[in-house]
Amino acid sequence: MSSINKSFFVIVSMLSLLAFSSNAQLSPSFYARTCPKLQSIVRTTMRQAVATEPRMAASILRLFFHSCLQGCDASILLDDNATFTGEKNALPNINSLRGFEVIDDIKTNVEAACDATVSCADILALATRDGVVRLGGPSWIVPLGRRDARTASQSAANSQIPSPFSNLSTLITAFGSKGLTARDLIALSGAHTIGQAQCQSFRNRIYNSTNIDPNFATTRRANCPISGGNSNLAPLDLVTPTDFDNEYYTNLLNQRGLLHSDQELFNGGSQDALVRTYAANTITFLKDFAAAMVKMGNISPLTGTNGEIRRNCRVVN
Ligand code: HEM
Ligand SMILES: *[C@@H]1O[C@H](CO)[C@@H](O)[C@H](O)[C@H]1NC(C)=O
Ligand SMILES: *[C@@H]1O[C@H](CO)[C@@H](O)[C@H](O)[C@H]1NC(C)=O
Ligand SMILES: *[C@@H]1O[C@H](CO)[C@@H](O)[C@H](O)[C@H]1NC(C)=O
Repeated sequence: MSSINKSFFVIVSMLSLLAFSSNAQLSPSFYARTCPKLQSIVRTTMRQAVATEPRMAASILRLFFHSCLQGCDASILLDDNATFTGEKNALPNINSLRGFEVIDDIKTNVEAACDATVSCADILALATRDGVVRLGGPSWIVPLGRRDARTASQSAANSQIPSPFSNLSTLITAFGSKGLTARDLIALSGAHTIGQAQCQSFRNRIYNSTNIDPNFATTRRANCPISGGNSNLAPLDLVTPTDFDNEYYTNLLNQRGLLHSDQELFNGGSQDALVRTYAANTITFLKDFAAAMVKMGNISPLTGTNGEIRRNCRVVN
C-alpha cells in the first residue's frame, strides 16, 4: 500500500469509528465484576429452551435482528397497553416474532443472581449467540454494556424492517442505512439456514415467480394454498432446518430460496459471486456471519446514563 493509500485507509477507519462511536463503549467484560455468572445463566437457559424446541434459536435470532434495526436497546420487548404502542404489533413483527417468554425466563434467572444490573438488550444479544451455537453455528464474543430503551416506535419498525417482497437494491439500501454493507447483508441472510416462515410470507413466490425450482414450488404449494392457510409453516432451509450451516446458499444456487427476498440475493445481480463463495466455503460464511453479528449488535446502543436497566423486559421501569 502506498503511504497515500495508507493514510486514506486510516482516515476512513477513523471516520467509520466516529460514525458509530457509541460502539466503542461496549465491552465484553462489562459485567465481569457486577454479574460474573451472567454468561453461564444465559447459556444454561438457552440450552434448555433450544433442547425443548430447536426453532427457538431461530426465533431469538430474528428477535435480535428486528430489535437491532431499531437500535439494539430492547425496545422490541416492550408490551403494548392502553397508553403505549410499541414495536411488537408493527407489521413485520405481529403474529410472527416469537421467543419473548424465553427472554423473560432468562431475565428472571439473571435478576435472581444480579438484581437490576443487566439490561434486556444485553440478555438478548447473549441469548442470540448461544442459540446459534446450540444449532452448530459459529460463536463470537459479545460486546456488552447496552442499556434499555424507555420508548419504542411502531412506525419506524414498519418502515425500516425490510419486507420479504423487497428486491436486492432495496435490501442493500435498507442495510446500508444502518451501516451494514452488502457483504453484511449476504452473510446475515444466512440466518435463514434455520427457522420457519408462514405461507403468507412466501405465497406469491411459490405461485408467481419464474426463478424457482418447479419441484420445490410444488412441494411448498402442498401446505400453502392459493388462499387460506396463511400461517402454515415451511422451513426457510428445506435441507437442514435446524442446523446452522451454509445450506441456505446452496439452496439459492438451486433456486430454492423460500422468500422472494432470499432468491433476490442470487438472481443475476451484484451479489451472485458472494452467494457462490458462501455456498462453497462454510468457514468463510461462518466467519463473516459472526463478524456481521457483532457489527449488527453495535447499531445505536444506549450506553452510559442513557436509557435504563429494565427490571421486567416487557415494561419501562
Ligand atoms: C434481508 C432481509 C430479511 C428479510 C426480508 C427477512 C424476512 C423474514 C421473514 C418474512 C421471515 C418469516 C416470518 C414469518 O413468516 O412469520 C423471516 C424469518 C426469519 N428471519 Fe429473516 N429476514 C431478513 C433478514 C434476516 C436477518 C439479517 C436475520 C438474522 C441475522 C434473520 C433471521 C431470521 C430467522 C432466524 C427467521 C426464522 C424465525 C423463526 O423461525 O421463528 N432474517 N425473515
Ligand atoms: C426495487 O424496488 C423498489 C421499491 O419497490 C423500486 O423502486 C425499484 O425500482 C426496484 N429496483 C429494481 C432494480 O427492480
Ligand atoms: C400472482 O400475481 C397476480 C398478478 O400480480 C396476483 O393478482 C395474484 O394474486 C398472485 N397470486 C398469488 C397466489 O400470490
Ligand atoms: C404501559 O407501558 C408503558 C411502557 O412500558 C409503561 O411505561 C406504562 O406504565 C404502562 N401502563 C400501564 C397502565 O401498564
